Amino acid sequence: MADGQRRLVAVSNRVGPLNDEGKAGGLAVGLSDALKRRGGLWFGWSGDTSEQGTFSEAQTEVQDSVSMTTIDMNQEELEGFYFGYANRSLWPLLHYRLDLAQFDRQSERVYRSVNQRFAARLAPLLDDDDIVWVHDYHFFFLGSELRQCGFEGRIGFFLHIPFCPPEIFTALPASHDIVRAMLAYDLVGFQTDTDRRNFLAFCIRELGGQKLSDNRIRVGDRVVTARVFPIGIDAPGYERFAVSPEAGEHEEMLRDIAGERLQIVGVDRMDYSKGLVERFRGFERLLEDYPENRGNVQFLQVAPLSRSELGAYVELRRELEELAGHINGRFATLDWTPIQIMTRGFTRRALAGIYRAARVCLVTPLRDGMNLVAKEFVAAQDPDDPGVLVLSRFAGARAELPDALIVNPYSTDDVASALQRALTMPFDERKRRWEGMREAVFAGTSEIWCDTFIEALENADASLPEDAPQ
Ligand code: ADP
Ligand code: G6P
Repeated sequence: MADGQRRLVAVSNRVGPLNDEGKAGGLAVGLSDALKRRGGLWFGWSGDTSEQGTFSEAQTEVQDSVSMTTIDMNQEELEGFYFGYANRSLWPLLHYRLDLAQFDRQSERVYRSVNQRFAARLAPLLDDDDIVWVHDYHFFFLGSELRQCGFEGRIGFFLHIPFCPPEIFTALPASHDIVRAMLAYDLVGFQTDTDRRNFLAFCIRELGGQKLSDNRIRVGDRVVTARVFPIGIDAPGYERFAVSPEAGEHEEMLRDIAGERLQIVGVDRMDYSKGLVERFRGFERLLEDYPENRGNVQFLQVAPLSRSELGAYVELRRELEELAGHINGRFATLDWTPIQIMTRGFTRRALAGIYRAARVCLVTPLRDGMNLVAKEFVAAQDPDDPGVLVLSRFAGARAELPDALIVNPYSTDDVASALQRALTMPFDERKRRWEGMREAVFAGTSEIWCDTFIEALENADASLPEDAPQ
């Protein structure tokens, strides 16, 4: 922390690590890049369960200038809060998947109580002039609970995932309570303007809010600022990863195996929001409609398992493995396997090497808050031979990366023809598109994301206008 700077206290369900260990999740990656530079306290869940749960003793690990303080959950909390409300209700709903969302009173109750207990454990660790920054859909109520505990300093909230339109969000029985709880923050941040507008529309239509300006909304006696802060990566650091010896080994290995074949990669947590089934079908359509690719391309999908205790994720894995088997069965030859799925984790350096070996990266989520893989792929490319990014129109990153080949991930034909275009793109066009994307990735790094959020939080004006009717 620089002299005169206020301490940053970040709160998120997942905490750390700060080093280059494999970790799948944009929040952990973006936040650790930002915190490593600024220092501060990072508070959240230990990732473990114990009988005492949120009453367990806090554990603190200090790395560089960051203290990571965590507490456990018990089995009931893990089930109701994490698997239940966060990942069976909020995650699908906010990703526009009303068909997958499940609602039950018990998990809502546990979710609220875990928010309350995390706030109660954090409050004694805070100083009045700390800046508190709460992250993601696990902790919508944390700010209002901290206020209940008497904390009067600045509290901001950033949603890493999409905020769906009010027509969908109102299906959640506690939707009004959640948005009212978001009004306890001084600043709420979103990845894209679509998310921000959906939130404002909910405040206006459902809670009778009035817009005071483009960024400020009043609901009753609360005034909150809602702004867009697209998360980024540590672009210069990532470029260095991509030329590290570990990256080089992975790049070389993949190039050796591919030989003359062009490499297509996808890197995603195994999650139904990532559009993997649709992507595999798009690849199959490529082999059907453009037979010159048979034997001449190979597709590696890195897909670390995620939330695998949940039925929807078990089902997704089964479906993907079946589909990959079907495609390989249909097209493979003795010396060529078209598609390979790997569920293991990699270090960030190793992943950078994998990106660098690829001619095409497929980032085709059905809905995604931002998608850091898209930005990592761009930062990892060799300027003398850059690859092509095929990007879903429904990824937050699309707003910053118009030079990617933008596709509708639901359309098998669209994915197949974009893939064909990427595989046959002339060098000059590849280079021009990549240069545009590289500029964008460097213009919106994790450092800029963190600094602009904190500055906006320090300046957020929560006062009622003088002429406001009471
Ligand atoms: P999400 O946050 O939904 O998982 P993002 O694309 O924003 O999606 O972030 C995913 C992050 O996880 C990226 O930084 C990516 O490099 C990392 N990641 C994905 N797969 C792996 C893996 N197998 N090993 C290590 N890190 C991974
Ligand atoms: C997304 C969410 C994060 C979450 C991550 C991994 O990036 O925005 O909050 O940590 O996915 O999911 P998990 O359930 O393993 O924490």
